[in-house]
Amino acid sequence: MDQRFEFRHGTDSRVRIGPGAEAELPAAVHALGAADAVVLHDPAVAALAERLAGAVGARAVLPVPSGETCKQLPVLGRLTSELIAVGASRGTALIAVGGGSVSDAVGFLASIWMRGVPLVLCPTTTLALCDAALGGKNGVDHDGLKNLLGTVRQPDLVFGDLDWLTTLPDAPFREGLVEVVKKAAVLDRAHFAELERLAPYLYARRAPAVLAAIEMAVAMKMAVVQGDEHEQDRRRWLNAGHTIGHALESLAAGALRHGQCVAMGLLAECRAAADVVPAAVTARLGALLQAIGVAAAVPAAFADPRALWELAGKDKKVQRGRVVMVVPAAIGEGRVVELTPERLAHAFG
Ligand SMILES: NC(=O)c1ccc[n+]([C@@H]2O[C@H](COP(=O)([O-])OP(=O)(O)OC[C@H]3O[C@@H](n4cnc5c(N)ncnc54)[C@H](O)[C@@H]3O)[C@@H](O)[C@H]2O)c1
Repeated sequence: MDQRFEFRHGTDSRVRIGPGAEAELPAAVHALGAADAVVLHDPAVAALAERLAGAVGARAVLPVPSGETCKQLPVLGRLTSELIAVGASRGTALIAVGGGSVSDAVGFLASIWMRGVPLVLCPTTTLALCDAALGGKNGVDHDGLKNLLGTVRQPDLVFGDLDWLTTLPDAPFREGLVEVVKKAAVLDRAHFAELERLAPYLYARRAPAVLAAIEMAVAMKMAVVQGDEHEQDRRRWLNAGHTIGHALESLAAGALRHGQCVAMGLLAECRAAADVVPAAVTARLGALLQAIGVAAAVPAAFADPRALWELAGKDKKVQRGRVVMVVPAAIGEGRVVELTPERLAHAFG
């Protein structure tokens, strides 16, 4: 097994994940040239946020509502008032400490507050480390629809350490790793095979395996994000599992976590596109999700093709009236296909 315990993404010093990241954070923030910093954090990681704020000499520490509930415009309005109250300025870096919800909300705020201020992301979930904190997309939900308002704005720094995840329960910890599985399924056959090998270690939360998986996720996502025009088109491939996944998440209205929905969406989309995705590919994907300990069966209450079709049609991924999704035509080979009501009818077996 790969015994590396830390990595930077290539020559890109903005992404630093592994032991030692916390100690290096103050110097990295200082090097941004920001006047000062404000830490905004999920309440679940308040102690970490206070520690990081102390280390960087932050002007203030502001809690944001826990999880997805922070991804709302009124919350950004309140946070803006709090930033004004603590004297934050155009030169103040915003440091987001929390999962993907916090990085999405604070990332959006950093892109619009004062027309844009430095942004530092300190992800504290596997999902945020493997996906949400990378690539620059941010946003908030609106009218029950996911990520309807947002921008694309690269973070200046992404710093993370597995020690920050010790309090994260097993279920969300494992579900976050679905974002690596998703990318490998449509982008990289060798990484998919490596994940199959690592699965028992990932299930057991063994640090070297988890860091290896995160490194794969960073490499795959950054290759797509930093890629040429052709690869920009591939950015859509990162949405594998998310067409049905987001519809499920909206329908479940908080009853299912994002990572659960992506896992369910991945398999449901493969079944829906059974004319494109060989049964052996769907089976391999299902086996890998099971091996890392993620349940991908859609609860009966949400396996409602009609309601899901309505929600999928409102998603921002809809292109000229077509609902599109990305499925693995083979392991490591994504293919864009159209989701239709007929296909959706086959999504739940
Ligand atoms: N911008 C992107 O490219 C992108 C990509 C994927 C997902 N996302 C978004 O990310 C969000 C999901 O992110 P998430 O799964 O990290 O969820 P989250 O941020 O909502 O956190 C999930 C739960 O874990 C808790 N938590 C966070 N860190 C913890 C820790 N270290 N210990 C204990 N509890 C902790 C939170 O309080 C919350 O209750 C969704 O809103 C999704 O849309 C964005």
